[in-house]
Parts: sequence; C-alpha cells; structure tokens
Amino acid sequence: MPIPFPPLPFAENALEPAMSVETLRYHHGKHHKSYVEKLNKLIAGTGYDTMPLRAIVERSAKARKDRKIYTNAAQAWNHAFFWDSLAPQSESPGKMTAEGIAAAFGSHDKFAEKFKKTAMDTFGSGWVWLYQKDGKFAIVGTPDGDPCFLRHGEPVFVTDVWEHAYYIDHRNEREAFVDTVLSKLVNWRAVEGRLNALKDRQEAKADIRRQAGGKGVEPWFIA
Ligand SMILES: [Fe+2]
Repeated sequence: MPIPFPPLPFAENALEPAMSVETLRYHHGKHHKSYVEKLNKLIAGTGYDTMPLRAIVERSAKARKDRKIYTNAAQAWNHAFFWDSLAPQSESPGKMTAEGIAAAFGSHDKFAEKFKKTAMDTFGSGWVWLYQKDGKFAIVGTPDGDPCFLRHGEPVFVTDVWEHAYYIDHRNEREAFVDTVLSKLVNWRAVEGRLNALKDRQEAKADIRRQAGGKGVEPWFIA
C-alpha cells in the first residue's frame, strides 16, 4: 500500500499573512508531495512497501544501499509532522508544555531565543526540533532530512529551515521566518497532545516493568 500524501490540516489560506498561500502551494503541494511520490516509486515491490512511514525511516537509516529511500521517507515524515505543528491562530502553551519549557530553559523567551539561535546555527538545509528525552525538553538542529527521533528523542514540535520553507515570504531571512513561526503559528494544542501521549507511553512502560518485578523486561512493543 503506498504511503499517502496527507492534506494540510488547515485551509490553504488559513495561515495568512504569517505564511502565504503561495508558500503552502510550493512547500506542501510541490516539495512535500514530491518526497512522497519519489518514496512510493522507490519502495514499490520492496519489503518497505507494506511498512508504515516511520518504520521505513528507521529501517532505511541503517542500510547504506537504501539511502534514497531514507532521504525521501524522512522528508515525508518531517513535513507531515511540520504541518501538524502549525495552527492558524497560535494559542498559549498548555500546562505541561509551559512547565516543561520553564524547567528546561528558564522562561518562554529564553526557549524562543535558543530555538532561533539553533535555527541560525544549523548550516545549510535542516530542521529544528523541540523534543523530549528522559522527561526533559531539549532543542536540536538536524542536517538535511534527518529526523530527531533517530538520535535524539521524541519530537513535540519542529520547524523546517530548508530555504524552500521561507524564500517566498521572507527571501533569505531565516531568522524572520522562525520568529514568525514561533510567535504566530505554533500549534500549542498539538504540542500538549504529543506530550500527553508520550507521558501515557512512559507510564505504560513503567507499569510493565513494575509488573515484571524489575527483571529487566523491556516493553519493546510500546513504541
Ligand atoms: Fe520543507
């Protein structure tokens, strides 16, 4: 079964003026679509073509010969996660998110400052992630299409910093683009939802370990 090309979770003009219809038509309608189409061509008739997208990313990352599959799968996953990280009207961070940000960075302003600095320090094309590792927030920039979950932790928010993400609306001003995303477009409800889901998974794993009487059982079946 082919990997689906997901529609935007909001209307094409819903993010204006912060993100234009033209940007979304190129970024989602051409760039993102092209990663999904190339991926489906590459995996047709291989063992990958029955796997979910994230599993394709995880397996192809380990096989040098599948580098093209990895690149397109990772970009397909990252873009879907990016659109789901944005919302037409930015709300305030939820309770868990706000507490996590305060604990990890000191304040919301310091979080935004660090996120922007990471975006500016990410050389060339890449992604900037807010992620959770061992119950704590951290920020990392990854090069090209590398997703955060392979080497760092579980992401709760991402910003695309490939030039195609901002050139139409901001020309070469990456910082202005990231500033706009952070101040106007973060889907804080989605971030809080992802944190809740991670907490549920962590609690389920801890329960299973407890029931096993500390015998080193690893509940691998909970992702
Ligand atoms: Fe992109």
